[in-house]
Amino acid sequence: MFSKNLLNKVTLPVLKHGGDLLRRMIGFQTEALQWIDLSSGLMEFVPRPEDIFIVTYPRSGTTLMQMVLHQLTTDGNVEFAHISEFSPFLDRSLAHHLQSASDFEDLPNPRVFKSHLGYPFIPKGAGRYIYVERDGKDVAVSYFHFYQSHLGFQGNFSDFFDLFLRGKVMYGSWFEHAAGWRIHQKDNNVLYLQYADLKQDMEACLQQIIDFCQLNVSQQRFPQILEQCSFEYMKQNEDKFDHITGMMLEKGYQKSAFIRSGKMSSGKDYLTKSQITQFDQALTKYSLSH
Ligand code: A3P
Repeated sequence: MFSKNLLNKVTLPVLKHGGDLLRRMIGFQTEALQWIDLSSGLMEFVPRPEDIFIVTYPRSGTTLMQMVLHQLTTDGNVEFAHISEFSPFLDRSLAHHLQSASDFEDLPNPRVFKSHLGYPFIPKGAGRYIYVERDGKDVAVSYFHFYQSHLGFQGNFSDFFDLFLRGKVMYGSWFEHAAGWRIHQKDNNVLYLQYADLKQDMEACLQQIIDFCQLNVSQQRFPQILEQCSFEYMKQNEDKFDHITGMMLEKGYQKSAFIRSGKMSSGKDYLTKSQITQFDQALTKYSLSH
């Protein structure tokens, strides 16, 4: 009934792409299951008025902000094995069952959480949110290196940038994430900071955070805090900040790539003219439609 040619036309691509499709379906199912676990974990999570959520799109200065909050809410002792002991990664812990909502009950006030959740998904309560935004082009470059060093991404920057622009990366569209939080930047319980400001005037940012979180920190402590939050200090102590470093070393992945270069405007130098145009067009489109 069917010609051999027609059969080949239909079956060969299915056979060729079958493995790919299956892999994608498994990926989709894993993501869906993680999303269900995360949602049920978030439903059990009981927010407190003292809670502080550090929220960012990945690669925007989250770890730096965790260290800043650690310095401002403790005596600054850096004897921890990893920063996540002080400030757990809320979404990852719940989605991967590393910790449950009830485990967080034991943390002392103020609890400080790291999260990459978009505004609609972050637990709402009387707590405070510190959102750090970073230039999207710089984020794309940093995220590309992270995908290569931590997730075994094999493509080149152009492949990654295409995924990034389409929001087909972990935590979805940078444009949507940033715009979703930007709308709330004037809310009383939101402190909206820029990575560039943290780099250019950390001292002013420290004061803003102290005032916003109503902390009691003397300015005499600033020199030590500035030193311990510096790129150089954190780079030297990278294992305290990149909790999968040990695991990655075992698997032969690249070391010293999480606290990478810590520069502003690296995106401009890294992207081609046409990629910058694509980025700007996506930004304009997004700004107009929201
Ligand atoms: P680069 O890859 O551009 O170097 P996150 O913690 O959200 O994953 O962000 C990671 C980015 O913040 C990386 O950017 C990293 O180098 C940079 N970073 C980490 N600690 C820093 C610090 N103390 N000062 C400035 N940038 C820092």
